Amino acid sequence: MTTIHELGAEQLRSRIAAELARARARTAGLTEAVDDADLLRQHSPIMSPLVWDLAHVGNQEELWLVRDVGGREPVRRDIDDLYDAFKQPRRDRPALPLLPPAEARAYLATVRDKVHDLLDRVPFTDRPLVADGFAFGMIVQHEQQHDETMLATHQLRVGPPALHAPDPPSPRVRVADEVLVPAGEFTMGTSTDPWALDNERPAHPVRLPAYVIDAAPVTNGRYREFIADGGYDDPRWWSEAGWAHRTGAGLTAPMHWRRDGDGWAYQRFGRWSPVRDDEPVVHVCWYEAQAYAAWAGKRLPTEAEWEKAARWDPATGRSRRYPWGDEEPTAEHANLGQRHLWPAPVGAYPAGASPLGVHQLIGDVWEWTSSPFRGHPGFAAFPYREYSEVFFGDDHRVLRGGSFGTDRAACRGTFRNWDYPIRRQIFSGFRCARDARPDESGR
Ligand code: AVJ
Ligand code: FE
Repeated sequence: MTTIHELGAEQLRSRIAAELARARARTAGLTEAVDDADLLRQHSPIMSPLVWDLAHVGNQEELWLVRDVGGREPVRRDIDDLYDAFKQPRRDRPALPLLPPAEARAYLATVRDKVHDLLDRVPFTDRPLVADGFAFGMIVQHEQQHDETMLATHQLRVGPPALHAPDPPSPRVRVADEVLVPAGEFTMGTSTDPWALDNERPAHPVRLPAYVIDAAPVTNGRYREFIADGGYDDPRWWSEAGWAHRTGAGLTAPMHWRRDGDGWAYQRFGRWSPVRDDEPVVHVCWYEAQAYAAWAGKRLPTEAEWEKAARWDPATGRSRRYPWGDEEPTAEHANLGQRHLWPAPVGAYPAGASPLGVHQLIGDVWEWTSSPFRGHPGFAAFPYREYSEVFFGDDHRVLRGGSFGTDRAACRGTFRNWDYPIRRQIFSGFRCARDARPDESGR
């Protein structure tokens, strides 16, 4: 397979142009599906009005590509502060003098024209920001990340359904319960993936004892057993902080679930349907995931355990880009890219399994890990501290693997996401792990 690094300059230009266009088509779809009043409305105090995300996407593209890479004059210096996520807390964003939808769209188009103009001329020198088109890749990923955020906003929106997509594929294979990952060293992170972001770098060896990891994400069916067994009412399963949150926030089930006779229904993008037992559970916070794992006699995987299960190839000892190999994801490998609006049932992606037989690591649901968000050993912030470094510490937990709402451009075996342990408006699920017993580990 040709990697970005191996492309000639002209091929790299057309690849970048195609990725920029793909991101913009999705942004357009998400923001044209509702009317102007809806774009300006705040659907939740923890989300931005969609029209803020829209112009913010254009503003970041202007800052990094037009001004920094291109050295061009600002398009609209006057709006920088409005769309600076650090200067404007989300809850205050609807009250800002935001660009109205038509102006925001015109602004994005003007910025994009300038980007195409500079993309035609930019020499891809060794300057780190432009080598292998990094800044363009970063901006593609930024737009795609906001497209997932906008999809999460759509899920919180009240009103008639605005988004439509076909159902995910049906199960094709039966998946085992658990998989043993043998003890030993593997390479975590990357130093060579051209568009990998700063927090994925550098590649470094990590040695892990043998462990067992769930072969699939925890399903609604299993999660329902936890609820039925009184899991939400038993402080034994919860951490102290988790119990305080569960009690204070009145958690009784995943977000968007309600009781439906003897069973459960969930709301997905404005439609109610019965909860399907064979789908990965989604819209749970880290505390719920941790409590479920304790109830099941297991624990959440560490981030390193998740990554070894996803990337380590026992035949060669090297780490792959994805569980199935180094090739870019296709519709056969994983439920990514908003092709579907919810997770696929377990067993729907046999072609996406890892060599050890771990399924659906990429796509479907972001998977909570037990790990706080930290820099890999040797981390260096690039190109700005505010992408990752300012979030390092114990406040955030790492999520891995991407969801049905994540684009393939912003998802790979090394990609790291993070959020507060109380968050569940994101497309978050989990799988469990446990230490291997001596009789299992073959030692
Ligand atoms: C990596 C998803 C946590 O949305 O806050 C978007 C991505 N960074 N704009 C976020 C991001 C700057 C980020 N996450
Ligand atoms: Fe952003």
